Amino acid sequence: MSQPKSDKKNNFYITTPIYYINDKAHIGHAYTTITADVLARYHRGLGDEVLFATGTDENSQKTVQAAEKVGQDIVSYTDEMALKWQETWERLGVNVDVFIRTTEERHKTAVYEMLDKLKKSDDIYEGLYEGLYCVGCEEFKRPDDLVEGKCQEHNQIPELIKEKNHFFRLSKYADQIKDHIKKNPDFISPVSRKNEILSFIEQGLDDISVTRESVEWGIPFPDSEGEVLYVWIDALTNYLTVTGYPSDGYDRWWPADIHVVGKNIIKFHCIIWPAMLMSAGLPLPKQILAHGFLNVGGTKISKSLGNAIDPIDLANDYGNDALRFLLLRIVPFGDDGDFTMEHFKALYNAELANDLGNLVQRTVKMIERYQGGSVGPLKEAAHDVKEYHDAMKGFRFDRALEHVWVVIKSTNQYLEEEKPWSIDEPEAEHRREVLAYCVSNLVHIAQLLTPFMPDTSKKIIDIFSDEKVTNPGILFPRLD
Ligand code: MSP
Repeated sequence: MSQPKSDKKNNFYITTPIYYINDKAHIGHAYTTITADVLARYHRGLGDEVLFATGTDENSQKTVQAAEKVGQDIVSYTDEMALKWQETWERLGVNVDVFIRTTEERHKTAVYEMLDKLKKSDDIYEGLYEGLYCVGCEEFKRPDDLVEGKCQEHNQIPELIKEKNHFFRLSKYADQIKDHIKKNPDFISPVSRKNEILSFIEQGLDDISVTRESVEWGIPFPDSEGEVLYVWIDALTNYLTVTGYPSDGYDRWWPADIHVVGKNIIKFHCIIWPAMLMSAGLPLPKQILAHGFLNVGGTKISKSLGNAIDPIDLANDYGNDALRFLLLRIVPFGDDGDFTMEHFKALYNAELANDLGNLVQRTVKMIERYQGGSVGPLKEAAHDVKEYHDAMKGFRFDRALEHVWVVIKSTNQYLEEEKPWSIDEPEAEHRREVLAYCVSNLVHIAQLLTPFMPDTSKKIIDIFSDEKVTNPGILFPRLD
């Protein structure tokens, strides 16, 4: 029996885009996945049952080209790269529930079911596509998408292709999508992205190709030999595959609560995907959450420029939690941000080594020195967490962290004012209370930081979970 609908409010299904495997992950991809992981962990903390999915988009021309380039057969290449991506997320402390690969059989099943539904709605027809295609974007382009004849994203002249293929009646759903966006103010977040999509729909929607004839690698189109499914139609359906669709019980998780995506792929998620779901008679995801792009030192991250930073290198050098914290701290969600090592190190020293690391170390040290390591009874401190939760629910992770840092800084300040190191023995109980107050603040801080810095938070909570404190050593060694 599938779960009754009234339980749905406790289920929280969140996804990242599934990534192309022509290269390894860089900090831009890590930014997306870590953001989604923070939300997933936050919801687990609220008591929700969470399904967090990420994966790899393998049926792309880019896969074929990349395998050719390294002279590897495509199947072993995809296996190797998919594993690499999976290991990257594990290394970065990302708690994935389902990792989906589009070359899996279960995915094909979901895709064929979706395709059947589209056909039954009479939304698939045969035609001829004559026009431009950018393999970098895996996207059909209109001349007005280009600047001086080039795709801006990839700085490349798209291919001119002419092929027989099958189309999906996207145009039919323009009004319905527009209505949905207007009636569901949170469907596309932030508002700037919603407006971008609305004005795009305003210009009219063309039907789109859902198959490719000149391409061999992909899910075969069952009705016409020699055609494979257009990779985006295949890729978007992954969000259903993850729920077990079309098996019974998939609606325990579908519709998804949040698709986290970068701003570059909102048209696919806010127009094509909703139209496919409408045609298939399935409910739409509740929210598409689009973030901005990270640049490196003011320059777009690009393979050809060789400026991509490997998040694993950063995690190895500075710690996993430091990377997670700094990525979300650096940029107000939704905006583009600039990543530089100088800024990264400055924030690390100021906020992790000085503010947080010091508070932990000095509190533990004083408890060891003055009280033989035992804290004694804690007073339940009243903490106002509304601001933090409002920020988390509004995806303002920078503000949520700011709120936590106010508590950290004021606790450091409190120590400066109370000076437990100059309290004399007759006042030992007062000194103990001062330190106990710091401990209760630290536990509170660790709880709020759990979604962002799971390992550090656990370490802090563990320090105080026994009779006597256990000194974890320096949490964030200062960088020169
Ligand atoms: N395979 C498609 C997505 C299919 S989803 C059904 C794809 N893959 S991708 O590997 O190119 O990854 C795209 C996503 O990675 C972006 O939408 C964004 O979330 C993330 N980012 C890639 N570069 C980024 C930055 N420089 N900055 C921030 N995010 C970046 O598109």
